Parts: sequence; C-alpha cells; structure tokens
Amino acid sequence: MSDGKGRVTLRGIDKHFGAFHALKGIDLDIAPQEFFALLGPSGSGKSTTLRVIAGLETPDAGTMTVDGVDVTYAEPGERNVAMVFQNYALYPHMTVEQNIGFPLRMDGVPKARIPELAREAASKVKIDHLMQRRPGQLSGGQQQRCALARAIVRKPRLFLLDEPLSNLDAQLRLETRVELKRLHRSLDVTTIYVTHDQEEAMTIADRMAVFLDGDIVQVGTPDDVFNRPDNLAVAAFIGSPPMNLLPARFEDGAAIIAGERLALPPRSAPVPAEVVLGIRPSHVRIADTGIPAKVVLSENLGESMLINAEVEGVPVKVRLSEMRPIAEGATIRLAFDGGHVHLFDPQTRRRIA
Ligand SMILES: Nc1ncnc2c1ncn2[C@@H]1O[C@H](COP(=O)(O)OP(=O)(O)O)[C@@H](O)[C@H]1O
Ligand SMILES: [Mg+2]
Repeated sequence: MSDGKGRVTLRGIDKHFGAFHALKGIDLDIAPQEFFALLGPSGSGKSTTLRVIAGLETPDAGTMTVDGVDVTYAEPGERNVAMVFQNYALYPHMTVEQNIGFPLRMDGVPKARIPELAREAASKVKIDHLMQRRPGQLSGGQQQRCALARAIVRKPRLFLLDEPLSNLDAQLRLETRVELKRLHRSLDVTTIYVTHDQEEAMTIADRMAVFLDGDIVQVGTPDDVFNRPDNLAVAAFIGSPPMNLLPARFEDGAAIIAGERLALPPRSAPVPAEVVLGIRPSHVRIADTGIPAKVVLSENLGESMLINAEVEGVPVKVRLSEMRPIAEGATIRLAFDGGHVHLFDPQTRRRIA
C-alpha cells in the first residue's frame, strides 16, 4: 500500500513563536504502521509537533527523519504525508468527488482515472453514494469522512490527524472512533493522531506521548500511562477525574496520612520520608475505620456517585458504584488497598517503582 515503512523519529525539536517557547526539545520514535496519539491539554504543543512532522512548520533546532532519511527541511509535498484538520478544510464549490480527487489532480494523475480512485477512497469511509454532493449538502459526519477520503486517496506514507472528531456530536464521535481504528488496520499506514481527549487516545492508540507545556512527560501504551504514570504531571492529568494525590509520611513500609497508618507492598526503589500518595477515585472505599475526611459535595454521575471530600484540607474524590449521596459536612472514613497505591517523590516528582 504505502511506498515506505513509515518510521518517524524526532530529535530535540525546538520551536519558538516570538518569545514563547512552544516545543522544548521533543524526542519521539514512532514505529512503522503504528497508531500513535499526541495527547495533552490545549496549548501543550501537539498541533505544532504535528505541523513540524507535516513540514508546515520549520523547527528552530532538532531533526526529523522518516525511514532514516532526514526530512527536517523537506517541503510538505516531498514528504508523502496526508493531514486531516479539525475543520476539514474542504473546498465548498467542489463536489465530494472533486474534493477527494483534488490531491490526485495535483499529482498529475490522468483525469479519466480520478473518479474511480476517488470512489475507491470514498467507499473506505462509506460515502461513495454521495459523490456528486457539495460539502454544504453534507452532514458534519459526512464532511469529516470526505476529508478522510481525500487524505487517504494518495496512499500516503504518514497519515496525520489533528483532533479529527472534535466537531462531531458525542454519539458520532464514538462511532467514528471505531471506524478510524478499522481504517487504520486496512491502510497499514503510520498514523499520528492529535487529541486532548484522553479517552479517545486510550481507546484508539497503540502508544501515545503525553504533552504538557511544550514537553513530552511520558511515552507509552495506554496501559503504561494509566497504570504506571511516570511522574506527578501524568498522574494529575490522566483519568477522569485523575488520581487523588495526597501528601504523606513514609515510615517502616507504611504511609501515614492524618495519623492513620496504611501498610504498603514493598518498593524496589528507596522511598523518602516525605512522599505523595496517588490513589484513583474508584479505588477509594468508604469504611468504618480509616482516614477521616469531610464531605464537600456528592455528585450524581448517572452510573456512579462522585463524593468530593477533603483530608486535612486536601481534596479527595471517591467514586462509588452504589447511588448513595452523603450529606455535605459529614465526616467519613476512607480506606484503600495498598496494592492500588502509587508513590511519588515530591522532590523529583517521579513515581517510585
Ligand atoms: N503560529 C503561531 N504563532 C504564535 N503562537 C502560536 C502559533 N502556533 C501555536 N502557537 C502557540 O503555541 C502553543 C502551542 O500550540 P499548539 O501546538 O497549537 O497546542 P495544542 O495543539 O496542544 O493545543 C499555544 O500556546 C499556541 O498559542
Ligand atoms: Mg491543537
């Protein structure tokens, strides 16, 4: 299908916009045919990184290679990449067929061949019955598919997607997510996918890079990032809501919070006397004995309750599967299994293995 393997490496990619340091030395290794997500909050540098990969931005420093060839300063047209933007960027005066066929026309493909190739790409995203419509006569979801078909019609070596689902309603976003995954399998093209939606990244990507303030704070599989966050930045970002982070003392193999001792499984690395204890809201229980907490608010989430409480002034969230509202101001006791606890070093901010 694609004419290359599609291995991408970035080394020390730096980018300023005026005085603003948008990318602070990005390193990435993306494997051939991988579905790789760039995940992070708005403004963290995801789109800028994707635009560097596409050749739409030139880095101030650093190098990029594709299959070992340096393309840092190559023009976008020389890179054999296809990009789908959040706003689709379709030509309003052209039909679906003409929109999808446009890159082929630019490549000098014989005119007579274009409708057939456009239809083939359209059928991959199930809009081949709409070839003569214009973008204004399509739903948002159909426009999005038209943009996808236009991107895949040239069989690119790299497929770049910048928040491609963010203009779709929630239901359609879920359906299209599944189809994108299927499309990726059928194309076998290295796919780099920008999103601020962690559920999207978790479900769709083989691996991801977590961006924060122009830096990558972790690279790994969804399982790595969720279950083994490297540092406090990732711990505070991943999960909805993210894990609770409580300052604690560490003594004789136990964490001490609000005077309560919690025995922990042994760590392979040395543990300092002051730690930050991380525990996911779904792993916290309300019990008869345990850490005292004051309830601030009970939120009904439909399928679960989220109890917002405080332990010595530090916010703690508890996810309960049973619908049991607890009165504001009540004192409860929190317990959790030491096996679910993460420990972080507050100095280095790194997770203690
Ligand atoms: N062309 C530009 N000129 C000035 N600032 C920019 C430009 N492009 C991006 N930025 C800034 O760089 C930061 C990172 O942007 P971006 O990569 O688009 O973030 P993300 O895609 O993660 O939301 C933002 O603060 C943004 O305002
Ligand atoms: Mg962006």
